[in-house]
Amino acid sequence: MSVSSSGSTTLSGSTGAASAGRGLWSSRLAFVLAATGSAVGLGNIWKFPYITGENGGGAFVLMYLVCIAVVGIPIMMAEVMIGRRGGRSPVNSLRAIARKDGLKPAWMLVGAIGILAGFLILSFYSVIGGWAISYIGTAASGQLAGQSADAIGGLFSGLLASPGTLLLWHTVFMVLVMVVVAKGVKAGLERAVTILMPALFVLLLIMVGYAMNSGAFARGAAFLFQPDFSKLSTTGLLVALGHAFFTLSLGMAVMMAYGSYLPKGVSIARTSITVSIIDTVVALLAGLAIFPVVFANGLEPGAGPGLIFQTLPLAFGQMPGGSFFGTLFFVLLLFAAWTSGISLLEPIVEWLEERKGMNRTLSTVISGTVCWLLGIASILSLNLWSDVTPMSFIPALEGKTIFDLLDFLTANILLPLGGLAVAVFAGWVMSKPALEAEMAMSSSAFRLWFVTVRYVTPVAVAAVFLYNLV
Ligand code: TRP
Repeated sequence: MSVSSSGSTTLSGSTGAASAGRGLWSSRLAFVLAATGSAVGLGNIWKFPYITGENGGGAFVLMYLVCIAVVGIPIMMAEVMIGRRGGRSPVNSLRAIARKDGLKPAWMLVGAIGILAGFLILSFYSVIGGWAISYIGTAASGQLAGQSADAIGGLFSGLLASPGTLLLWHTVFMVLVMVVVAKGVKAGLERAVTILMPALFVLLLIMVGYAMNSGAFARGAAFLFQPDFSKLSTTGLLVALGHAFFTLSLGMAVMMAYGSYLPKGVSIARTSITVSIIDTVVALLAGLAIFPVVFANGLEPGAGPGLIFQTLPLAFGQMPGGSFFGTLFFVLLLFAAWTSGISLLEPIVEWLEERKGMNRTLSTVISGTVCWLLGIASILSLNLWSDVTPMSFIPALEGKTIFDLLDFLTANILLPLGGLAVAVFAGWVMSKPALEAEMAMSSSAFRLWFVTVRYVTPVAVAAVFLYNLV
């Protein structure tokens, strides 16, 4: 933490002094900005539309919204609460609270899951971040103007077919993330979030406005909001649950880390709900911008991870000022991905610093390089290794490439497991007076949260798991 001259406090790298001298967020707003920067990312704009398309639309969206409300928000509150109570990095917070309340240090495992998930997610996240960078150039050079759906599709498959280009942009993305994490000063970034997030929001609104005139808005909106449960599979349910974790940055202790900087007295419930609503609205806007274009152009909603890169460029190619708006859009998407990528690397670096006593630069270089190397496997699975499906002997994972596997296993298995552990920790392991003191809610609101975290969340997560495994 550092206190800038303007008096505002921001996260910085030196968490070495875990107990002494840790500043706090200047305000509730600073926390909301950082947490939103982490939550709003590729998950909202790239992943949400494509998994919605793959899982049949409305019913999936409804289940996703239920998962946000019943699982996501309560767990975000629990993570922020644990972080603030512990006042240290996630692993040490859990250990400290566990000791204080006479509990087992075994809860450190939660932190360990977080670090593993962080490595795996960032490795492929960076590859997709690279796609966004690549499209900045594509849009800026006017290549999208007036193109047919086929030509736009060709541009995208051309990108996927060139490992060298993918590697270049993956490297650029990883370096961008590493530079910020190594410097450990997020002041500039926080200010950027204040401007760029609203800009992204406005641009999405413009895209939705365009979609309204595209001729298929009603169909796109119906696809998103009219539930047809015959289209929802049990896997779809698991994906909806997993995505609630992914999109809110839950299950790997990121919100715990940020919570440790939240001033006492700020309402954990209100802040968590604010962040969750912003995140959800951005995802729904992305869906509303994309699906009308899909239907107006006879494209396939279940096209997979390339969906936004095959539909939005088409819209940019047709609308007036499309090259400008397209360029701006991909720049803002890159920014959203960047702030999320930073929050994926940060916990790993903090852990290396605290546990291994490495300095920040070295920690960043080592962990960033490991992620970068792992990312190469994802890149190759898009082209040279597209036939490599290492886990096909498990029915649920049949036909999944390395890239698909990393995405599926992290979001749908590791994050929900991490979240389950957080719920059990908050609902069953911590002392109730400690919880009440930290949450500082009205007694009925507290009871609602407590019952949810203690019973509803664990049962929901366990049920969805069992459903899919058995
Ligand atoms: N929430 C981000 C997104 O939607 C991704 C992300 C950043 C994340 N940090 C995380 C996911 C921590 C899980 C855990 O793009």
